[in-house]
Amino acid sequence: MNLFDQDAIFPSSAFDLLSPIRYPLMQDVVCEIKKAFAASISPEKIEGATAAYLLRDCKKKPLAIFKAQGYLHECTAHLLDYKAFAGVPPTVVTSLHHPILGGLALGGEVIGSCQLFYKGRSLNPADVQNLKTAKSIRRIALLDMRLLNSDRHSGNILVHKDALIPVDHHLTLPPQFFGCSFGWSHWPGAHTSFSAEEKNYITHLDAEKERQFLLEKIGLPISCGNLHFIALQILKAAMDQDLNAHQLSFFYRLSPDILPTRTLAPLPKNLPIIRDLFKVMNYLSEDAFWSSQKHHTIAIKDCIAHFAATWKSVRDPYQRAISNLLPSIPK
Ligand SMILES: Nc1ncnc2c1ncn2[C@@H]1O[C@H](COP(=O)(O)OP(=O)(O)OP(=O)(O)O)[C@@H](O)[C@H]1O
Ligand SMILES: [Mg+2]
Repeated sequence: MNLFDQDAIFPSSAFDLLSPIRYPLMQDVVCEIKKAFAASISPEKIEGATAAYLLRDCKKKPLAIFKAQGYLHECTAHLLDYKAFAGVPPTVVTSLHHPILGGLALGGEVIGSCQLFYKGRSLNPADVQNLKTAKSIRRIALLDMRLLNSDRHSGNILVHKDALIPVDHHLTLPPQFFGCSFGWSHWPGAHTSFSAEEKNYITHLDAEKERQFLLEKIGLPISCGNLHFIALQILKAAMDQDLNAHQLSFFYRLSPDILPTRTLAPLPKNLPIIRDLFKVMNYLSEDAFWSSQKHHTIAIKDCIAHFAATWKSVRDPYQRAISNLLPSIPK
C-alpha cells in the first residue's frame, strides 16, 4: 500500500512530478482558470490570508486556491497524504500569468500551488465537540504529526459535507523542529483511540522511501528528509504503544527535557523510546547542524553514540532505524 512502490510512474523532476500533467482533474482546473483569466476574471486575494488567491472559472464559480509561497510543501503534503487518508485536497504546482499574482521574474509567470477549491464552511466549536468528526480529527492529527505541521489551527480546517478538510500545509516538512502546537490537541476526537486501519496505515508507511522521495524527487534539503524520517519512527512507536493523539501532542509542544510529567504520568510502558526520538529531532535542529548535509550526518552520529548503550539493550526497531539512517546518507 505504498505510494512509493509506484516509483516507475514518477518523472525525475519535482516540477513534472507535481505538475497537473499527471492529474487530469487538475489539468482541467488549470485550463478553466486560464480561460477565465482570458475572459478578464481575475484572481481574488483571500481576506485575512497571507498570500492565497481564489481562482474562478468563466462562470465565476470558485475552482482553486493559488499560493505562490511554500508551494512545494503544499503539493508534497497532498502527495504524502497517500490514498487521501486525511483528505488533503488535490494540489499541483503550476505557473500562471496574471498581473494580480505579480511575477516580475519568469516573464510574468508565477509558480505556485493550485489546490482544488472545496465548497465548505469554517470549522466551529460545535463541529469538534461532535464525535462524528473524531475519525477526521485523528487522521488530520496523524498527518500533522507525520509532517511536523506547525500551522494547524481551526482556520486551516474546512467543513465540507460531513468531513473535515485540512488545508494550508506550507509549514510542513520543516528543516528544523522547534515544537508544534496542534489546534486539535484538546478536541474530544483527539482523545479517541486510533483505529486498526489508522495504525495499519502508519505501520505500513516506508520511512526510508519517503525520505529518499523528499530528497531526490522533490529536492527538499537533507534536514527536512531526516526529520520527516524520525517523525514517522515516532508515530510508528506511538502506534505500538496505543497512545492517542491528545497524549502524543504534548511531546510536540515542548523540548523533551521539560516534557510535562503531569500529563504523561498515566502513560505506561516504554515511553523513553519516544522521548529519545524527540531528543534526536531537537539535537538535529540545533543551529550547528541543521543547515548542511555534512553537519547533519555528524549530528546523527553523535545521537547514535549518545544513545548506543541504551538503544542496544532496548533493541527497539525505531531506534535501530535511526542507526540505519547513517549509512544511507551519502558522504
Ligand atoms: N482548498 C480550499 N478550498 C476552499 N477554501 C480554501 C482552500 N484552501 C484554503 N481555503 C480558504 O482560504 C483561506 C486561506 O488559505 P490558507 O490558510 O491556505 O492561506 P495562507 O495565506 O497560508 O493563510 P495563513 O495566513 O493562515 O498562513 C483558508 O483559511 C480557507 O478559508
Ligand atoms: Mg491559513
